Amino acid sequence: MHSARYDHGPNGKHEQINFLSGSEKVPPKRKTGLVIFVIIALVVAAVAAVLIWFFVFKGNSEAAISNRRIPQTIVFSGHMKLADVPYDQKLEDIRSKEFSDLASNLESVIGESIKKDSFLAKYYKTSVVTAFSRGVMGYYWSEFYVPASDLELVPEFSEERMLDALNNSVKNSRSVMTPRSLKISEVTAARTDPRMARNPRSVECFYVLEAEEGKLKTFTSPGYPKGYTSKSRCQWQIRTSEKNSILVDFPVFYIEDYCPDDFVFIYDSLSPDDYQAITQKCGQRPPSNPLAVASSGNIMLINFITDSDVQRPGFEAQYTAIPLSNATTCGGSLTETEGVFTSPLYPRFYPPAVDCKWTIKVPPGNKVRVKFTMFRMKEPTVDVHVCHKDYVEIMGTKYCGEMASLALTSETNVLEVNFHSDKSYTDKGFSAEYSAYDPADPCPNKFACASGHCIAKEQKCDGWNDCGDMSDEIKCKCDKEQFACDNGLCKPRLWVCDRVNDCGDGSDEKRCSCEENEWRCGNGVCLPQDVVCDSKQDCADGSDEASCKSSPGICSEFSFTCSNNECVNKVNAECDRENDCADNSDEAGCDCGTRPYKLNRIVGGQNAELGEWPWQVSLHFMNNGHVCGASIISDKWLLSASHCFVTNDPANHVASNWLTYSGMQAQYKQDGVQRRAVKTIISHPNYNPMTFDYDIALLELSDPLQFTNTIQPICLPSASHVFPAGTSCWVTGWGAQREGGQVSMMLQKASVKIINDTVCDMVTEGQVTSRMLCSGFLAGGIDACQGDSGGPLVCFEESGKWFQAGIVSWGEGCARRNKPGVYTRITKLRDWVKMETGI
Ligand code: ARG
Repeated sequence: MHSARYDHGPNGKHEQINFLSGSEKVPPKRKTGLVIFVIIALVVAAVAAVLIWFFVFKGNSEAAISNRRIPQTIVFSGHMKLADVPYDQKLEDIRSKEFSDLASNLESVIGESIKKDSFLAKYYKTSVVTAFSRGVMGYYWSEFYVPASDLELVPEFSEERMLDALNNSVKNSRSVMTPRSLKISEVTAARTDPRMARNPRSVECFYVLEAEEGKLKTFTSPGYPKGYTSKSRCQWQIRTSEKNSILVDFPVFYIEDYCPDDFVFIYDSLSPDDYQAITQKCGQRPPSNPLAVASSGNIMLINFITDSDVQRPGFEAQYTAIPLSNATTCGGSLTETEGVFTSPLYPRFYPPAVDCKWTIKVPPGNKVRVKFTMFRMKEPTVDVHVCHKDYVEIMGTKYCGEMASLALTSETNVLEVNFHSDKSYTDKGFSAEYSAYDPADPCPNKFACASGHCIAKEQKCDGWNDCGDMSDEIKCKCDKEQFACDNGLCKPRLWVCDRVNDCGDGSDEKRCSCEENEWRCGNGVCLPQDVVCDSKQDCADGSDEASCKSSPGICSEFSFTCSNNECVNKVNAECDRENDCADNSDEAGCDCGTRPYKLNRIVGGQNAELGEWPWQVSLHFMNNGHVCGASIISDKWLLSASHCFVTNDPANHVASNWLTYSGMQAQYKQDGVQRRAVKTIISHPNYNPMTFDYDIALLELSDPLQFTNTIQPICLPSASHVFPAGTSCWVTGWGAQREGGQVSMMLQKASVKIINDTVCDMVTEGQVTSRMLCSGFLAGGIDACQGDSGGPLVCFEESGKWFQAGIVSWGEGCARRNKPGVYTRITKLRDWVKMETGI
């Protein structure tokens, strides 16, 4: 893999759920119509009722309570300061008399206060004091029970009301009839998930832990590693000595993916109070992206809640303490000409409630460039345009959320960077590189983007948005070989009239040979516009019916063919989570193309993370180590390139000379790797070693693979699948990192773009056949290379799955300008794969 720059890949998109609206009905024209209408409406209502029952009432988790007509439990939790109580170490022991005396005293004070509010009193059930800490701070929760008949009153249970009740009685506390009068102040109250309201004196799975400096202690979720059971309600109160901060790492974290059911919720407090939440997490985390958090003080609360029936291992946690000053001291002055700075405790989550300021000062006359190689400061309900909670502030602009590429340049030789984290919710933070540069020549021998990035000069005005902010593609004087778009961009002339909107404003496709009101078939023939989607095939290649929602009966090379031979005229109909075929065959065999690990998007660097490309396989030949790549298409079959096996040496075609390694990241690491021998090698009968045409081969494994987090099959595209020119896809492999180099130890990844066929044909001087496609950058710099052969070129589809578009096949050198990588075009050979393997 050769890569000079980095292009971040597709961001996982959220699924969109569309509810049918009952109002989209057509008014009936006649009486029979009315009857039919009523029947349909009744059916729709019945279906809706069943669906509502299914989604709302089926689950019995307390989280799903809202909306149903059954009683509801409301819980507020928070803390308060007890002014006149001297601190006693014994208060930290929930089994001590001191604890239970003060707790019941405070519980009755809270109860009395609530009962003075006639509304709250009506629904009040109980209050529980769960802990005390130095201050003296008391931590409590109060529970209310709202019967089904009063559910409409639920919104009246506001935090303000609860606080008013508690604070009003503070004023009158001296008159409260309690065994000992308590003066309370600094009260907080937050609505809490009732599942996290636990009574330390009576529940199971409740622990009090002491974190100590220099000592690493552990705890695990119940049943770990065999698996946790449903309905776990666990709590760990962690404390350490004053002036210390608590660090908790989760070397193993494997919890159900659906957070409302199963989750870990960590607080910077001893009560589950949202205003002091650190983070809520579920799902599975790879070793490369562990969860690791820190407290802002000497207390922390960890909750583990499960409601799903699926069994997952759970977590293993390690905790220790460090001096608070080490956790929260950050910032300072940076005076070197280049360097790196990070958020406090990076790559651990930064602690809540910290502020830092870095002042970067470079020699007079120079300016500062800052590039964030990782930036993640995401908080629920925060608008990233406002960043009213945690942020990094530079030159008056606040940044928050998740950013793939953030690069900035200063106006003078001094740049200030401010970091702020508020009391609730923290995240991984950032890592940034800075360097001094000469404003007269900001990017020596390179082009300076407006963002501060430097890119190769050749990349300016080449038609690709290399800077990321388009600054390399504006104000271009288009040269002879370029087309001037209406919006001022320059694009290679080769891209004009290729049916891809390269300019972005459609101008490169407007003045093509066809008239405005005409449709241009894939083969260049012009037909009247109304042939499009008229359910008749007018273009010889069927392109006029290719992307129509319904063109029944039209079967063209653009149609998806169902198992029952029905044709679906929809772009990339397979595995898109919509049933398009009557027999649903378009959604069959779709257990592929997903990566189970939750990955962190690290900007920059080309090393792949463990589990990032779970379909990638390394092929070792005899004693030569890694030679070629392959991809997993089922538990028994791998896909690779013929040229890895059909060579001058017949030994290459002997199955027993090969070993396959799945689930591998570093060539020297064997954990989680599954080694399989090869039973048969099937290379394509038409493979031509002279032209590399039909460069595809199938390997049958001697024993099936066991799919894991790091071993998964890739989706194969149907013959009609389209990967439009300009799409960013990824190529992966252990190939050389430069032309003539050695194979790599770590799996490498590179983002490459699908290049349009006309251009591909031009730059390869006609050497590509219809079984090949080009991908890479005409500007050069990023490409596959020797040793990547046989490996996959994969693209992420909107539907949320990865599909393999190509197999690394050949190229002229590696990453040379105007010499993109050439890949085997899988769609053209899809039927052959099916014939040989049944997949
Ligand atoms: N044939 C090469 C191999 O055996 C792969 C070449 C890919 N080259 C390229 N520039 N994309 O590993």
